[in-house]
Amino acid sequence: MAGAAAAAPMDIDGAAAPPAFKGKAPLSAAAAVKSSPWVEKYRPQSLADVAAHRDIVDTIDRLTDENRLPHLLLYGPPGTGKTSTILAVARKIYGAQYGNMILELNASDERGIGVVRQQIQDFASAHSLSFGAKPAVKLVLLDEADAMTKDAQFALRRVIEKYTRSTRFALICNHVNKIIPALQSRCTRFRFAPLDGSHVTERLRHIIKSEGLDVDEGGLTALVRLSNGDMRKSLNILQSTHMASQQITEEAVYLCTGNPMPKDIEQIAFWLLNEPFSTSFKHIADMKMRKGLALIDIIREVTMFVFKIKMPSNVRVKLINDLADIEYVLFILLKLNFDQSYPRLIIFCC
Ligand SMILES: Nc1ncnc2c1ncn2[C@@H]1O[C@H](COP(=O)(O)OP(=O)(O)O)[C@@H](O)[C@H]1O
Ligand SMILES: [Mg+2]
Repeated sequence: MAGAAAAAPMDIDGAAAPPAFKGKAPLSAAAAVKSSPWVEKYRPQSLADVAAHRDIVDTIDRLTDENRLPHLLLYGPPGTGKTSTILAVARKIYGAQYGNMILELNASDERGIGVVRQQIQDFASAHSLSFGAKPAVKLVLLDEADAMTKDAQFALRRVIEKYTRSTRFALICNHVNKIIPALQSRCTRFRFAPLDGSHVTERLRHIIKSEGLDVDEGGLTALVRLSNGDMRKSLNILQSTHMASQQITEEAVYLCTGNPMPKDIEQIAFWLLNEPFSTSFKHIADMKMRKGLALIDIIREVTMFVFKIKMPSNVRVKLINDLADIEYVLFILLKLNFDQSYPRLIIFCC
C-alpha cells in the first residue's frame, strides 16, 4: 500500500487522477469539520465554553492565572466535561506551544508500569525550552486513569513527586476509588457531577441554533431526559436523530434510540395494574415486538413511572422491590446472553 503510494506520481489538482482510483476524494478541511461528530465539533474550546461546574472551572481558571496550578484529579461520570476542561486549560496556558508542552495518554494507549517509567518520565525530565523569564511547567494528561494498573499508579506516585517543579499531572477518571489513595492525596480533587437539565438544554439550544435544526420542545425535552446529565450522549442522540429525520420531535428521538416512549410506558403500567396477568402479558409482548423494545428498558422506565403515580406507600415499596428483582435477574441473564428466556423469566418473576 505504502509502496504503491510512493510509486504513484503526486497528483495535485485531482483532474488527472489515475482512472483506476475509485475511492472518495479526501475531504477538504471545511468539509471535514462539517461532517465531524458534533461531540468534537462542539467541544468547548475555552473554559468559558464549559457548561455548568462554574465553581470548579472558576477555581481552575484562577489557579492558572496565578500560575499556581496543582496536580489535578478530575473525576465523575462520562460526558460531563472533564477532558474538555483540561484541554481548555492547556490551550489557555500554552497557546501555540500546546503540542510541545503536553503529553496526553488515554485509554487506547498502553499505560502499564513501562510507560510510566519510560514515556512519562522521559517527558517530565526533559528540559523545556523557554524564552520567557520563567521556564514553563509542562503538563501530563492521563485520561481514564482508572484503567491504569496498580503497579503503574505506584510508579507514577514517585514520578509525580520527583518532577513536581517542572511538570503538572492531570488525572481524569470515572471511578475515583480505582485510583490509589497515595495518588489521590497528591492531587487536588474535583468532582464533575452529571449536568443538570437546564445546562444541557442551554448547550443543546446553542448547537441547534448553530446547525439550524428543526427541533420542537418535546424533542428537546426527550433529548435532555434520555441524556441523564451526559452531554456527550445528548449530542450523539441529537446527531443521529437529525440523520434519521429532518424534524426532531419527541417521537423521532425515542424511535432513534429505541427507548420506549413515555406514553407506551404509561400504557404498559395501565395494563399491569388493571388487566389480568395473561392479557397484560400478551399486550406487552405484542408491543415489544411491534416497536422493537428491549425488556430491560421497559422495566427501568416502569420503575421510574411507579414513583410518579399516586399509591399507598406499602404497595409502592412492594412494586419497586419486585421490579428491582426482575431487573437484577434480567441483568444477569443479559450478561450470560440468555435472550430467549425473557418470556419465561417474566412468568417466573411474577
Ligand atoms: N460541561 C460541558 N460543557 C459543554 N460541553 C460539554 C460539557 N461536558 C461535555 N460536553 C460535550 O461532550 C463531549 C465530551 O466531553 P468530555 O469533556 O470528553 O467528557 P468527559 O471527559 O467528562 O467524559 C465534549 O466534546 C462536549 O461536546
Ligand atoms: Mg474524558
